[in-house]
Amino acid sequence: MAGINKNSDQYAKADSHQNNRGNETRAKVVVDMVTKVFESERQTVRALDEVSFTVSDGEFVCLVGPSGCGKTTLFRVIAGLEMPTNGEVRLAGNTVTGPGTDRGMVFQEYGLFPWRTVQENVAFGLEEQGAVEPNRSRRVDEMLELVGLTEFKNAYPKELSGGMKQRVGIARALAVDPEILLADEPFGSVDAQTREMLHDELLSIWTTTGKTVLFVTHDVEEAVTLADRVVVMAPSPGRVNEIVDIDVDRPRQRTDVTFGEYVEQIRSLIGE
Ligand SMILES: Nc1ncnc2c1ncn2[C@@H]1O[C@H](COP(=O)(O)OP(=O)(O)OP(=O)(O)O)[C@@H](O)[C@H]1O
Ligand SMILES: [Mg+2]
Repeated sequence: MAGINKNSDQYAKADSHQNNRGNETRAKVVVDMVTKVFESERQTVRALDEVSFTVSDGEFVCLVGPSGCGKTTLFRVIAGLEMPTNGEVRLAGNTVTGPGTDRGMVFQEYGLFPWRTVQENVAFGLEEQGAVEPNRSRRVDEMLELVGLTEFKNAYPKELSGGMKQRVGIARALAVDPEILLADEPFGSVDAQTREMLHDELLSIWTTTGKTVLFVTHDVEEAVTLADRVVVMAPSPGRVNEIVDIDVDRPRQRTDVTFGEYVEQIRSLIGE
């Protein structure tokens, strides 16, 4: 995976401010001049203005930026939950026109079904796909093992901690074996200690599965902990300010001088 990540930088840079289809052969996600305007009677909001960047196969990319810069809007456009006003998103060369099982989603507010047990939550996408027994249960068990929740398979969401709920969310998103994992501030509501544990887990899942990950956060340290590259966004209108390669070996230590320098660099780009 390291090889892919290193080589991906040139593609990303070449593509960050222009539409460059020639470089798309290894690109998993191409965000191509995406503009999103929300219009209401009262006001017009340019949530995204000509946003372009690419994500390579197997790459971990974080989107950071201040509140209101369009992170969730971009996430929703990539997820196919929202159509862009202009421009498009391509996944493995295909224009996104709606949601699909090639993308697994994890949300900040968990989005678990309270009336379903942990294993029934994880099974949801598989049921939608028409997966039959015993394959379905086998896959659910596999996912629960991956996120360390085997013992809680019969528990209900209300019986779980925030961190555990988020792990169920990740297991559910990965159960249908999507090529891309999309996460919008998934660890925003858990405490700092749990968050660090979830970072380790997510990175280990990423290494095991080789998924392409797009992760939204406004926590700069979280982005530098996780990402191969960080897309720094700016608000009003929402746009790409800069794309920063994080050239630090994993596991990363927050106390490292280089780690701190990346955090400072990105914070000053955001204006923090
Ligand atoms: N459905 C909508 N209708 C109208 N305006 C919207 C809609 N969704 C988002 N916006 C506006 O678009 C802009 C970007 O919002 P968005 O939620 O994408 O920001 P964000 O970067 O995710 O912020 P946060 O860090 O607070 O989650 C904001 O000005 C917001 O008010
Ligand atoms: Mg948001």
